[in-house]
Amino acid sequence: MPNLHIENLTPFAYPASIGEVGFIWEARNEKETLVLAKNKDEEFFIKIVKKENHFLLKSDKITKPTDANLLKEALNEYKKGVKGIEIFSNTSISKKKSEKNSNLLKKIDFFSKISKEKREIWLEIGFGSGRHLLHQAKENRDVLIIGIEIYKPSIEQVLKRAHLEGVENIYLIDYDARILMEFLNSNSIGKIFVHFPVPWDKKPHRRVISKEFTNEALRVLKKDGFLELRTDSELYFDFALKTFLDFEKTIINIEKNMDLPISSKYEDRWKRLNKDIYNVKIFSKKVDDPIKPPSKLIFSGEFLPINFDLKNRIFKDKDFFLKVEEVYETESEKYLLKVAFGSFDMPEHRYVVIEKNSAYYFPHQVYSTRANKEAHEVLQSWLKDG
Ligand SMILES: C[S@@+](CC[C@H](N)C(=O)[O-])C[C@H]1O[C@@H](n2cnc3c(N)ncnc32)[C@H](O)[C@@H]1O
Repeated sequence: MPNLHIENLTPFAYPASIGEVGFIWEARNEKETLVLAKNKDEEFFIKIVKKENHFLLKSDKITKPTDANLLKEALNEYKKGVKGIEIFSNTSISKKKSEKNSNLLKKIDFFSKISKEKREIWLEIGFGSGRHLLHQAKENRDVLIIGIEIYKPSIEQVLKRAHLEGVENIYLIDYDARILMEFLNSNSIGKIFVHFPVPWDKKPHRRVISKEFTNEALRVLKKDGFLELRTDSELYFDFALKTFLDFEKTIINIEKNMDLPISSKYEDRWKRLNKDIYNVKIFSKKVDDPIKPPSKLIFSGEFLPINFDLKNRIFKDKDFFLKVEEVYETESEKYLLKVAFGSFDMPEHRYVVIEKNSAYYFPHQVYSTRANKEAHEVLQSWLKDG
């Protein structure tokens, strides 16, 4: 993870532009300082933590840009602006790393507009090293393949490989696939691949495949399209089969130890250990009604001054929760909260920037799933009434 260690750090005044990077404001609490940086079109925090004899500057997990170079550039420019002595850094930008097709990386808003896409669309969820995704893209140049992954280094790596291998018919997105499904039009996708998902044998509620996910997958699939689960876990296979069989009208296809034209990194690993490989496909056999994609949650009202007792405040209901993890102050009349909320299986993590007459989620909007909406209403009442 890119980071800098600086002794005797004295910051500069905000806002400031150094090189191509803007440093807009900072927020602090007793543990750390967050500096809002803007590089290209991305806004994110640099986190500064006081250590015994120096300051550690690093990325912030929630706002970290997918392109690690944006963060490295911001750390390097920040270093030029402050007074202090650098004692360690690993922020050099290698030329090779910047060779990638960033135009293939999309944000969630893009998917509400994907209805205009004329090409056949397939999805791959949790593509990891991207072997299967890139293979499919090269074999099917007229198909658009959307890769969904929550691990940013995998996205970086696949963007780079796509550039080197001349693959242009993919879009990648850094998002939880279980939430992304709600943005896709009904009957719009030909195939969905879920290959070697984390089995979560002890915590099955965290699996990608669930009744709700399968229901959404069957809605977004075209009639006769399929969702394919490939796994080495017999428990996951049994669970998926049982979940799929609960649907009224469908066709299910099962294969055991049958090779695909390409073997993924995980598949190779399990084959070396002589594990059985299960492949189960569920086909959509109906045409679904269109849906509206979820709307964005917005705050309304007057919010300041905020209540500092909010730190560590928790609200728990049967289907949702809200926790304020940190509260930060700024020099101006602006506050920042770090919050976790939504459903227990798919929690959201965001900052909330609070000014006198406005508050907004950062770095992305929050979409109005039922659990998010209920948590948002509790948060709004805490901000207004303390
Ligand atoms: C065990 S790896 C398998 C990677 C690849 N499919 C393969 O076969 O080599 C599972 C991948 O799923 C990703 N993942 C887990 N939960 C996810 C979610 N909810 N949405 C998108 N990706 C997810 C993980 O980051 C990880 O890269």
